[in-house]
Amino acid sequence: MKEIDERQTAITRKRYDRIAPFFDLMELFSERSAIQEWRRLLWSHVPTGRVLEVGVGTGKNISFYPPGIRVTAVDLSERMLQRARKRAREQDLDVDLRQMDAQRLTFADNTFDAAVTTFVFCSVPDPVQGLRELGRVVRPDGDIWLLEHVRVNRPIVGLLMDLLNPIVVRIMGANINRRTVENVRRAGLEIVGVENLKGTLVKLIHARPAAGRSEEP
Ligand SMILES: C[S@@+](CC[C@H](N)C(=O)[O-])C[C@H]1O[C@@H](n2cnc3c(N)ncnc32)[C@H](O)[C@@H]1O
Repeated sequence: MKEIDERQTAITRKRYDRIAPFFDLMELFSERSAIQEWRRLLWSHVPTGRVLEVGVGTGKNISFYPPGIRVTAVDLSERMLQRARKRAREQDLDVDLRQMDAQRLTFADNTFDAAVTTFVFCSVPDPVQGLRELGRVVRPDGDIWLLEHVRVNRPIVGLLMDLLNPIVVRIMGANINRRTVENVRRAGLEIVGVENLKGTLVKLIHARPAAGRSEEP
């Protein structure tokens, strides 16, 4: 198992614990104007069966879970999870919610038929390690669906994202300059498709736990 940066992981947890009470309010406008539609699209692809949601946050995906699905959902931040638990209760949905680090999932290999994340790999301290863990716990012919914002691959915008990133991370907990498609490949996953949802900023990535090997074992 790769060594985890405990300090950075603790900082990430604290950041999300801190913003948990305001998180839904902070994202209210973008949720209503676009994100909810993207969530609906993502979940329309997810097969029923045993599904893992990593970085469930305050549980904004819960109302989009398709009927008949069995979801285990994890997050690093206990305060975010408290809100997700409340949401699941209010919707009378049976979701197995657990505090866990994406970089070291405690599930056995091939436990799930699919895994889902939405806007998570911008925050996981070692995204390649987290993606590698998804590839391990999803069965080899299962599906991995990621809805993620990424660094825009244009010289000036990309540079601006790099420059602003340290400030945004401090306030919001999320990196705005992650190269998530490349990270999916580096984790040894097979990319089935990538759909651009907002220019090249927001992507819906469909991957599989390929037999291939990751770059950093
Ligand atoms: C931007 S929020 C997105 C929450 C939710 N997925 C959504 O779409 O609203 C990122 C979430 O990822 C979680 N997270 C960050 N690093 C993590 C890790 N290493 N393991 C598990 N969850 C993590 C944070 O606690 C936070 O809840």
